[in-house]
Amino acid sequence: MVEKVAHAPKKETEKGVQRCVNRACGATYGLRERVYVCPRCGETLEIDCRLVRPHEPSALRKHWAAKTTSKLPRDASGVWRYHDVLPFSETAPFVTLFEGNTPVFHAPLSAKYCGLSDLRLKHQGYNPTGSFKDTGMAAAMTQALISGARTAVCASTGNTAASLAAYASRAELQSAILLPRGQVSPAKLAQSLDYGALVLEIDGNFDDCMRLVQELGDDPSIYVANSINPFRIEGQKTVAYEMMEQCLWQVPDHVVVPGGNMGNSTALGKGFQELLDLGLIKRLPKLSVIQAEGAAPLARLFASLDPNSADDERIPEKLAPVANPQTLATAIKIGAPVSWKKALRAVLRSGGKIIAVSEQEIADAKAMIGRDSIGCEPASATTVAGIKKLVASGHIRHREDVVAVLTGHALKDPDYMIDYHRGTLSLDSGAKDGSAPPQPILGAFRNAPERVAATKAAILESLERRR
Ligand code: F0G
Repeated sequence: MVEKVAHAPKKETEKGVQRCVNRACGATYGLRERVYVCPRCGETLEIDCRLVRPHEPSALRKHWAAKTTSKLPRDASGVWRYHDVLPFSETAPFVTLFEGNTPVFHAPLSAKYCGLSDLRLKHQGYNPTGSFKDTGMAAAMTQALISGARTAVCASTGNTAASLAAYASRAELQSAILLPRGQVSPAKLAQSLDYGALVLEIDGNFDDCMRLVQELGDDPSIYVANSINPFRIEGQKTVAYEMMEQCLWQVPDHVVVPGGNMGNSTALGKGFQELLDLGLIKRLPKLSVIQAEGAAPLARLFASLDPNSADDERIPEKLAPVANPQTLATAIKIGAPVSWKKALRAVLRSGGKIIAVSEQEIADAKAMIGRDSIGCEPASATTVAGIKKLVASGHIRHREDVVAVLTGHALKDPDYMIDYHRGTLSLDSGAKDGSAPPQPILGAFRNAPERVAATKAAILESLERRR
């Protein structure tokens, strides 16, 4: 559904500015200026929505709650419902596929597995294209229309691609997607093709695709839809608002998310900070980010930070990238995350952690989420694997209130699941000359299919064995 206006209004008060995150620079740009990184210093940008703390914060809560019964398509979207805190005017051409409004599950088996009394999983895989990217893409494609772009492009490990393909088509824009050839799950590739995107398979990894997209961004006809684009972050921050409504405004002690390009952690951090500034919550949840061991540049940096210096002083100028990232959680196979600084700042402010988990830990955590009847794609399972580690290290306590964000649907990567349960999952060592053997990952919770004779007796015997 695109609620299009024939012409974007010429002059109206803009609901905010784009600001360089580098404090020493602090340059600001109008919302209509098509910039992705600061033209002055090259640092990333974020949108300051100039939110004003209301006299009565509970009025805002009631306002949003009332919209859940509205019949307007815009209010039925879990992004546009929070239009009040987004940098778009009333007359914007809102693009929506009814994103957001995703469920929060209790996950008793995963909680026990982690050593917690309870664990809630907010499942962003219930979005229209099956991943958390849709909330951001609704905002980004709306902004692409406002800015008069013709083609939206992204680099992707698969989910951004599927989401862009769907939302660009809905906005009647051309989309072009740069994928690392052979490194994307077939299910995600299939989605992008089906939604009508131009899919370009690049001989390189995600970081190469990302570099190319940043170069393409200079062309005035092209709109960059990766999370380096601050409008994507605006859409994704609404997840923090929705989560707080679902938690009845009781702030969880910890919120845990996977980390790849670091857009999601940046967005949640921004959302919670705004909720605090608006007086809608009284404290920040501790935001922790979990990376896969073979693609963990930020977890490595985090481990090296001086715990005694002030938060902003702890953020270094540069992040050492991982040159050849390796993980079977292909969604987060990223060695040079673009939004690392914003994400690190959010984590440090909140008192959270950034850690890495192994392939075995991810695989077993994913199976446990499956046993909870929930399921998710491998990258999402880093959360449960990470929580287990953070409980073991004492950062999270047994009775604390923890919400993890699952980012993608289980059916995004069926090959991984089949291999895990059949016992054929293995990590390619990444050695280009084939000198190192693949590393097998044996599932602790394997559930291989059984071959059974076509008789009632054989089936009953099989059932008995598994009782
Ligand atoms: N989980 C899933 C399922 C993802 O697809 C991604 C990122 C992440 C977690 C990490 O989120 O990048 O915001 O830190 N996928 C991108 C893509 C890179 O192209 O689909 P992040």
